Order: sequence, then structure tokens, then C-alpha cells
Amino acid sequence: MDETVNNLASTEPGKPDTDCDPARRKILVAASGVAGGAALAAVSVPFIASMTPSERARAAGAPVSADITGLEPGAQLTIEWRSKPVWILRRTEAMLKTLEDPRHLAKLADPGSDVKNQQPTYARNAYRSVKPEYLVVVGICTHLGCVPTFRPDVAPADIGPDWDGGYFCPCHGSKFDLAGRVWRNVPAPTNLVIPAHHYVSETKVVIGRDTESAAS
Ligand code: FES
Repeated sequence: MDETVNNLASTEPGKPDTDCDPARRKILVAASGVAGGAALAAVSVPFIASMTPSERARAAGAPVSADITGLEPGAQLTIEWRSKPVWILRRTEAMLKTLEDPRHLAKLADPGSDVKNQQPTYARNAYRSVKPEYLVVVGICTHLGCVPTFRPDVAPADIGPDWDGGYFCPCHGSKFDLAGRVWRNVPAPTNLVIPAHHYVSETKVVIGRDTESAAS
């Protein structure tokens, strides 16, 4: 009963697609592609047309799967889950190194992911992920719900020389690193949310469920 659809959203580095309106955010999620690479994703969702109302309600919260085949290092794709953008970033070795640099960690408000409910327990680690290489994170600012911009570039003129690459929310200036960790002294109170997720193969990740057998 599943149907595979292409349902990608762009997060081109620096693209100002920020929007706090959930309805408009949904349009943005549905309308765009892959940032910084040529990866394609396929999102499996139940076939809506044949569902009863209760089945549709369940499907709205159902897990989605993404094919990360071809996602290049440094590139990011976006899928929609529960009407929210979820980013899948394939981090480079340099990005991973920065995430553990003490000078970088000193800029963060919650470098150890001590605030619970912002991530599953298996993502309370240096990279906030199941696999260090891949970040899976909900792309909604924890201040007022805008969609931050993907800014992997280091020390850009418009953000500043201390920028190590991450996600910048132009709405009110919140900053997050490439593990979704919030900077100190910005409006956003907490790290970005890491959703429940797991890998069913080297190239397929399921978002919205911790394991194959346990629904989130
Ligand atoms: S919504 Fe992101 S900084 Fe305010």
C-alpha cells in the first residue's frame, strides 16, 4: 500500500528560504531539491487517496524513508516528515573535526546535548547522530519556528569571522552548528530537534521510528 514519491526540498547554501509560516513552510518543503550535490531521495508514504480518515491521521505521523544514495560529502537533502522539513546532511571529515574542536564547543550553549527531549538518547553524542557522517535533524528553529538557512561556509562576511559553518536563522539571528547545536547568547533556547530515526541499509534511513519494530 506504499507509494514512493519524490518529495524533496532545497537547502541550497545561503538560500534565504526562511519562513515561520507553517503553511508556507509546507510549500517550500514540497517545492525544492538537494543542496550542494546530486543526491536523490525517495520518500515512501502510504497511498493517501485510498485511506479512511483514521488511516490518513495515522499516515500524517507515519515514518518516512529516504534514499541517501549519491548524497555527496558536504551536501544536504530535505524531506518532509509530519509537515516539517528534515535535513539529512552528509558531513565531511573537516566538518566532523570542527564539531569536536574545543574552540568551537566554547561557542555553544548545550554542547553535550544535556537538554532532554531534543534528541533520542542514541543521538546524545559528539555528533548528535547514529552515524557520525550523517546528521538527521528537524530544520525548524527552536526560537519561533522559522526555517534556518544552511550555511556550511566558514567565516562568511555576512555572518562573521567566528562562524564555523552551520545553520543561520535570519529571523532573529539564532545560530546552530552542523550538529544542530545552538550557540550561546542567541534567541533560540535549545538545540535543533533530532528525530527518531534508524538505518535499514547503508543507503536508506527511516525517520520517525527508532527501530524496525518500535514505533516512535
Ligand atoms: S525564529 Fe529563528 S531566530 Fe527567531
